[in-house]
Amino acid sequence: MCGIVGFTGSKQAAPILLDGLSKLEYRGYDSAGIAVRDGEGETEIVKAKGKLEELKKMTNNGDAVKGDCGIGHTRWATHGEPSALNAHPHSSEDENVIAVHNGIIENYQELKEKLSKSGYEFISQTDTEVAVKLIDYYYKKYNLGPVDSIARAMIRIRGSYALCVMFKDYPGEVYTARKDSPMIIGIANGETYVASDVPAILKYTRNVYYIGNMEIAKLVKGGVTFYNIDREEIEKPLTEIKWDAEAAEKGGYEHFMLKEIHEQPKVVRDTINSVVKDGKIDFSSIGLTDDEMKKISQIYIVACGSAYHVGMAVQYVIEDFTSIPVRVELASEFRYRKMTLVKDSLVIIISQSGETADSLAALREAKEKGIMTLGIVNVVGSSIAREADNVFYTLAGPEISVATTKAYSTQLIAGYLLALQFAVAREEMTEEKCCELLKELYTIPDKIEKILEDKERIQWYANKLAGAKDAFFIGRGIDYAIGLEGSLKMKEISYIHSEAYAAGELKHGPISLIEEGIPVIGVLTQQELYEKTVSNMVEVKSRGASLMGLTTYGNYSMEDLADFTVYIPQTDSHFAGSLSVIPLQLLGYYVSVAKGYDVDKPRNLAKSVTVE
Ligand code: F6R
Repeated sequence: MCGIVGFTGSKQAAPILLDGLSKLEYRGYDSAGIAVRDGEGETEIVKAKGKLEELKKMTNNGDAVKGDCGIGHTRWATHGEPSALNAHPHSSEDENVIAVHNGIIENYQELKEKLSKSGYEFISQTDTEVAVKLIDYYYKKYNLGPVDSIARAMIRIRGSYALCVMFKDYPGEVYTARKDSPMIIGIANGETYVASDVPAILKYTRNVYYIGNMEIAKLVKGGVTFYNIDREEIEKPLTEIKWDAEAAEKGGYEHFMLKEIHEQPKVVRDTINSVVKDGKIDFSSIGLTDDEMKKISQIYIVACGSAYHVGMAVQYVIEDFTSIPVRVELASEFRYRKMTLVKDSLVIIISQSGETADSLAALREAKEKGIMTLGIVNVVGSSIAREADNVFYTLAGPEISVATTKAYSTQLIAGYLLALQFAVAREEMTEEKCCELLKELYTIPDKIEKILEDKERIQWYANKLAGAKDAFFIGRGIDYAIGLEGSLKMKEISYIHSEAYAAGELKHGPISLIEEGIPVIGVLTQQELYEKTVSNMVEVKSRGASLMGLTTYGNYSMEDLADFTVYIPQTDSHFAGSLSVIPLQLLGYYVSVAKGYDVDKPRNLAKSVTVE
């Protein structure tokens, strides 16, 4: 959840660290800090509470901190309140060991007690300080070098972590280690970079090494050596990242979220093209074969947040195209449920980051039970991508805004393509029908473009909505799934309390919350359910609700009912969610802008949730 950057080379480290951290600010932004060392000199540590901007001001954009080797961190607090004291880097008393850390050290209390008995004192409330002092303890007590003392500490630590460590006796060197929290290393032009996420170093290099679980790396200027937990040297392949540096910049848009909303036609098209060759679906890059698809008797889709909402929508599509029953599960529940998984089932994990702790744990749980797994993942080389039996990469490119938009849209597309291929492989859909639906799918990017052209209308309505305290989203079937996503977008960036309900559920409780002026947004793209949801909208209107109707062109009777209507182009009903979600993303975005919030960095949230 936090962001880490490290550097060793010939250039000034601080500006590079701050620049990298600015690309990772979406991962944590309640405090930040850097530690920089000039040759054999003392290490300078600067930390600031608040956004990275504070740290930039304190260091004159890094110019005030001299040195060519350093580590930096932007924090999303887990242990200890956001403060300069709890901000990273943390160090041992004599600054023998200085480190930054992502993740959670579960047994930090127990380790703290042990270290206290050996005379260590603690000044912060963080688990990171415990890790730093544990490394220092092994380093001094057994006279071990950096790799050995880190390895010993790793054996004692329970939890998830990515660490970047500097040692007083080893100038110009940065050590890194990880377990269940991402870290990549890049080398270019005699300089070495390390970061917890690709965008931080994309400007400098696209050639990276992925450090594996329970591995350690030693970074020197222009070089890196990897070790396993037994301190044996290991080789790692160099991987080229396809994303370009511009993809991680705002490109003239006011916010990353708006830029990413506008990128959707392109990334949706790219994702379709990645598995459709000559008008036919070709899954050879994914690994799942037609024979395997024929044998599947149950699908579980497991994910968190918006990715879970994708699962909710895709469930309807798979169940309509095939005879396979689908269950959609929240990863945080699935991982602890004593649930017997059906033999011959497939567990699909959907995750943009590929690092979400609960989704990763769910994947491992499924694998342990001998169930085949498929990851729908955006970040190449991420933990879920590496550990799943098969991977469908969404081609959304780097998603910087905390609130997902383009990754969500590509995940939906991946879900439709899976549903189609399952249907064809199992002979539950003819090739001709599939071709016809693929043609329709190819029209989605242009239709999204069309919706975006009309964004000012949504902005107008968003300004009216900005004063609302509560909002409700209702719909049936796929429209309900899209309502869930619209509602999440609204609450997470505009802080309006918002709920999504299956329209038919309203009468079972929620309708008692409806009062004069409360906004209710109805999603009605599924023609056979249109009249049913209209009835529910009439019910809330008669109790004072102010209605927005989101439906397809042609359903003009909506004008008589709703106070504000948004039309989306017609498409096959299975794919309508890809269109109806766009106005809802825009609505959440513009309400947040109208309220003057920091859209890309909503309070309390982080992009990639690598802790439980
Ligand atoms: C909401 C949002 C989150 C993520 C969720 C899963 O806008 O972005 O709800 O969808 O945290 O993240 P990934 O897809 O990285 O596993």
